[in-house]
Amino acid sequence: MAFELKNTVPWGRNLSEYKSMFNLSDADLDKRIISFGDGPASFNKEMTKLNKSVISIDPVYRFSTNELKQRIDETKDIVIEQTQNNLENFVWTHIKNVEELKKVRLSAMNDFLDDFELGKKEKRYINHEMPNATQFSDFSFDLALSSHFLILYSQLGLAFHVDTITEMLRVAKEIRIFPILNLNAQKSELLDDIINHYQDSFIVKIVKVGYEFQKNGNEMLIIQRK
Ligand SMILES: C[S@@+](CC[C@H](N)C(=O)[O-])C[C@H]1O[C@@H](n2cnc3c(N)ncnc32)[C@H](O)[C@@H]1O
Repeated sequence: MAFELKNTVPWGRNLSEYKSMFNLSDADLDKRIISFGDGPASFNKEMTKLNKSVISIDPVYRFSTNELKQRIDETKDIVIEQTQNNLENFVWTHIKNVEELKKVRLSAMNDFLDDFELGKKEKRYINHEMPNATQFSDFSFDLALSSHFLILYSQLGLAFHVDTITEMLRVAKEIRIFPILNLNAQKSELLDDIINHYQDSFIVKIVKVGYEFQKNGNEMLIIQRK
């Protein structure tokens, strides 16, 4: 199925959230990082400003700044309304309420939009749809991240996940995936199969993190080369 703008719901997080979702230490921030399904997050922009190295991968990067801005405008109130209707699925300690959520998300997405044209020129934002093979050679990166893409979108299926994770492990020495719940805030039905698939050949760990917005969503999956 073609990747169409009308089927996307852009929603982006910021560097502070990425740091806590992935337990990123100062040493981690200095690593060569690739982030899959990075969408309109401000992670790349904020990291680049700190002279760190991040490449973001997402099929939404085929659209123009104006198209993405328009799509964000069309969908933002729908996402907020859905969150408002499911308040009990979320933890409102760090972000206090839906108004603050909207402010934080729009601020991250506007930061992304401001950086998008320059970042495309600098090849920091790459239009690419997983699980297709990327352009990068083996171990071009120390760390590959997936925030709110793999495992959360469990409907993509096990084969999609295995193919995508295998490609991530080809280009990076370690991958981190957050969260490990599905969209219903339940343990993802794919998690055990993914762990079983990799645990003989790789070091596979579930690690607690300092971020919890989806209720019980405070763990990440790490897969590392032995
Ligand atoms: C909920 S957003 C998360 C954005 C960002 N990582 C964050 O946490 O703020 C999920 C992203 O996954 C991307 N995505 C969906 N299918 C994909 C695919 N096949 N390959 C790469 N990215 C994909 C979407 O375009 C979207 O930007």
